[in-house]
Parts: sequence; C-alpha cells; structure tokens
Amino acid sequence: MEPPSEFAVASAPEGIGESIWEEVALPDLMEAGAGPDSDAALEFRKTLGMFATGVTVITTLVDDQIHGMTANAFMSVSLQPPLILISVDRRARMNGLLREGVRYGVSVLEERQSVLSDRFAGRGGDGPEPDFELVHDTPLVEGALAHLVASVVRSYWGGDHSLFLGRVEYVRYGEGTPLLFHGGGYGRVAGDSRIFVGLPPELLQTILTRGVERRYADGEPIMRIGEPGDSMWIVLEGNVRLERPGRVARLGVGDMIGEVALLDGGPRTADVIADGPVACLQIARSDVLHEVEANPQFASALISVLASRFRESE
Ligand SMILES: Cc1cc2nc3c(=O)[nH]c(=O)nc-3n(C[C@H](O)[C@H](O)[C@H](O)COP(=O)(O)O)c2cc1C
Repeated sequence: MEPPSEFAVASAPEGIGESIWEEVALPDLMEAGAGPDSDAALEFRKTLGMFATGVTVITTLVDDQIHGMTANAFMSVSLQPPLILISVDRRARMNGLLREGVRYGVSVLEERQSVLSDRFAGRGGDGPEPDFELVHDTPLVEGALAHLVASVVRSYWGGDHSLFLGRVEYVRYGEGTPLLFHGGGYGRVAGDSRIFVGLPPELLQTILTRGVERRYADGEPIMRIGEPGDSMWIVLEGNVRLERPGRVARLGVGDMIGEVALLDGGPRTADVIADGPVACLQIARSDVLHEVEANPQFASALISVLASRFRESE
C-alpha cells in the first residue's frame, strides 16, 4: 500500500521488515519480559502506562467547527525554534483534519478536568459544555492550566499513529496543578503527601482523582446535623470543629469528615464548622459508590477505614 504523501518517509527503522508498511506480528517484533505465553500487546500497553504523563485536549477549527481530542502523547521537542509534537491515532477524526499548515491548540488539563478528558476521548463525560476561546483562529479549552497554539510543519508516519510536529505560535500558563494519567487511570499531584499518609493507597487514588477542592471561611459550616450524607471531605489546610450534642472534637490536616454518613446517605449526626480558614477535598457519595461497585480493593479499604471509626466512637 502506498502511504499518503504526508506520511512518506525516506528510510525505515532497522529490523521491522522490508517495508514500514509490511505487517509484522507484534510478538515477533518484541520480547515481553513476562514470557512468550504472555499477551505481548497487553504487556506493551501496560509497560507504556508506567510512564506518567499530563493530559491535553488537542483542538482545531475546520469550517467554523471545533474538533477536540484528548491526548497524552504530547511532548516538547525544541526551544529554538519552538517545536512540539503530538501523536494521533490514524483512526481518530483529528488525524484526517491535521496536515501541514493547519493549526492545532494544546490545552493542558488541570487536576479537576478529568470529566473533560473523558468527554474528548469519546468516553461520555457528563458535566457542562466546555467553553472555548479562539486564539490565532484556534480553539483553546477554557479553564485549562496551560495553552499552546502550533502550526503543523511536518507530519511523520508512526505506525498506527501519525506524528504532527508543530511550530509554536502562542503560549500561556496559569496557576494550579495538572491532571495526571498513569497506569490507564487519572491521578493528581499530592501537594503535601503527609496529608494522605493515613489513607490506604486504594482509597487515595480515587480520592485524589475525584475530589474537588473547597475553601471555607472561619465559622462557616461544612456540614450540619440532619443534612444528607452526599459527600465526604478530607482536611487539606486548617482545623475544623466537630460538634455533637455534648461533645466537641477538633480535627485537622489529613482527617476525614462525614465518611460514616456516606454508608446510607445520612442524615448527618454532627455539625462541622471551619475553625479559621479551611481547605478541604470534597468527594461526592456518588463517586465513592461508583468506585465501590467497580473496585473491590477500594471497597475493602473503605470498610477498614469505617470499622476503625466505629471503634473510635465506642
Ligand atoms: C487520557 C487519554 C489520553 C489519550 N491520548 C491519546 C493520544 O495521545 N493520541 C490519540 O490518538 N488518542 C489518544 N486518546 C484517545 C482519543 O482521545 C480518542 O480515541 C478520541 O475518541 C479520538 O477522537 P476523534 O476520533 O473524535 O478525533 C487518549 C484518551 C485518553 C482518555
């Protein structure tokens, strides 16, 4: 088969066969350390998944239509001239839209934008419609941590992907922490790992991915007696007062709040009030239940945490 002209390359890497277009079975090409009986394709994917990356949405504008695609195969190439590279599946619509001279935007997602990532990966992803801003006639995802606009200067054959080298025309970054992708799932940078040291790792990953940071002013209620147990919190900064009839406790950084009422959805049996300015990570009950159903290790880690709570309150 003749490659499309933009994918024409002068030479093939050694050892892949006579032509780069020749089909060669993966196990013949590549040895998996797990042995000849292992699934080479799966081993390859899992090995690549050990490389933690950020997550971007690649965007382009064609006939006033915005197209976006989630991609973690993004890298910096050169500072002078400023060049970046993305790798796009040849089956993706984006692959048919990009060619030399076409601009693409790169929006580096922020840690709370995993829903957007799912959406642009065609994995559903509920939530509000994303907003775009046009820069150099290129759509960029609003609320992302960093933005680049590049114009394709070369494209290369990359097996079942195409590589698009872009000359960077525009850059901008903001404050915040990036969404991470590792081992096939999302992750977050744990700013102060001591906060989470008491949590089983099975809980930690989900909490960091699904949690939303909330800030409370001094004296502001975080939860009230009688309210539904529709979320739990972990204290990231500051202290809170937990007030039950006849009993007041003070909780601080790393402590969980409201996790017991998650079991049946409430009602809450205590007031929790910010004692000075407080930052918490809030995780919705629906996210926790979803994880319990999907992940037995998460479920058993949660049961252990809750069991220790009941022992404490005996
Ligand atoms: C975290 C994540 C990273 C991804 N990275 C890439 C990538 O680098 N290149 C790619 O072609 N597809 C990647 N995908 C898959 C595409 O986002 C997905 O196939 C998308 O549906 C393609 O959209 P399109 O066909 O509308 O262009 C990724 C998906 C996820 C969830």
